[in-house]
Amino acid sequence: PSCVLAYSGGLDTSVILGWLQDEGYDVHCVYVDVGQPCEDREAIMQKAHDCGAKSARLVDVQEELCRDFAFPVLQWQARYEGIYLLGTSIARPLISKVCLQVAREVGAEAYAHGATGKGNDQCRFQLAAEALDPAVKIIAPWRIPAFREKFPGRTEMIDYCEQKGIPVKASIAKPYSSDENCLHISYEAGKLEELTVDGYEVVDFGMTVSPQEAPDQPEQITVGFESGVPVSVDGEKLSAFEIVQVLNERAGRNGVGRIDIIENRFVGMKSRGVYEAPGMTVLYETHRLLEQLTVDRDLAHLRDRIAPEVAEMVYYGLWYTAKFDALLAFIEEAQKPVTGEVTVNLYKGNILASSRSSPLSLYDEEIASMEGGGSYDQTDAEGFLRIVGLPSRVQGRINPRDY
Ligand code: ARG
Ligand code: SIN
Repeated sequence: PSCVLAYSGGLDTSVILGWLQDEGYDVHCVYVDVGQPCEDREAIMQKAHDCGAKSARLVDVQEELCRDFAFPVLQWQARYEGIYLLGTSIARPLISKVCLQVAREVGAEAYAHGATGKGNDQCRFQLAAEALDPAVKIIAPWRIPAFREKFPGRTEMIDYCEQKGIPVKASIAKPYSSDENCLHISYEAGKLEELTVDGYEVVDFGMTVSPQEAPDQPEQITVGFESGVPVSVDGEKLSAFEIVQVLNERAGRNGVGRIDIIENRFVGMKSRGVYEAPGMTVLYETHRLLEQLTVDRDLAHLRDRIAPEVAEMVYYGLWYTAKFDALLAFIEEAQKPVTGEVTVNLYKGNILASSRSSPLSLYDEEIASMEGGGSYDQTDAEGFLRIVGLPSRVQGRINPRDY
């Protein structure tokens, strides 16, 4: 039998690559490049070959990740449990899609990954993969008791690699585990499991400086949107991935985009995470500032009511579902007027609105003005409130309140 393996070149997936072969599989390694830290791509591919992979390839999907996955979620203003911008969650269905494309090409019937049985990632990998190919066989070694017995800890994994001639880099074990892509870095587990530990103190952040270390001068930045899609920074047209990169750099150096959350995993447990997503945080903020100008009230409120559900679906891994397709179609329509530019100041972790403009602005200074005259006649409000207040007056008469 043969399988594809979502391969990172790290200790876990290297062990899994060896173990799958022990189990009789021909293994095709797929390194889906979503922007995870990687010093040497060639070396990772070489390592896969050296470890017996039937084939190994790297597929760079960073542009697609930003354009087709992160940006629609941004348009929804979807945040899991109010604050998490879903940086890891968003990448998982795309990783599965790429792995299954390779599986189809090489004729592999199984898809193996290194996510644990305790987390969200296994759900996202599997639910996406099965939606794309209902017949695919999922191999999640960490859910197999025999695998866990064989590798109860890092020592056994390193021993196994030495035995098999799999090169392992002497990496200093970090006091937590992290997951990085071009959208964000997450830090979880290890020391962070102790809630008395200050995550901002303990984590060695990769994308942001702390607000205390950020410059004393605000940095101004202008983001342009077309139909809710980010298209430019400071007037320069850029691709989706380029925008995220530029904003990561500029927001990161101003200490923007760190959070510490205790979230509810799909598998039921609460877990603590510290995340940084500088660029996406600026995009969420500037996007909302522009929506305030361009989106009709009732549509904005409707979108905001459904956004937590979209966040939940992304978090759970329900990307490839009929409901999610429909939600994507809805947001594309709803975002049509979100065109224009927003200027903000980045300052010590803050994003402060400076100015915004749109050719489709619904904001009418003449109507909004508190000055006299204009097209809003205050007399009209008399009738409006007679009617809106009718139920309250009836209730007040029948059930008088103490006051
Ligand atoms: N808790 C976050 C999420 O579920 C981050 C997960 C990070 N994954 C990882 N393999 N370290 O989206
Ligand atoms: C894992 O357990 O594989 C990482 C954490 C998660 O998926 O939530």
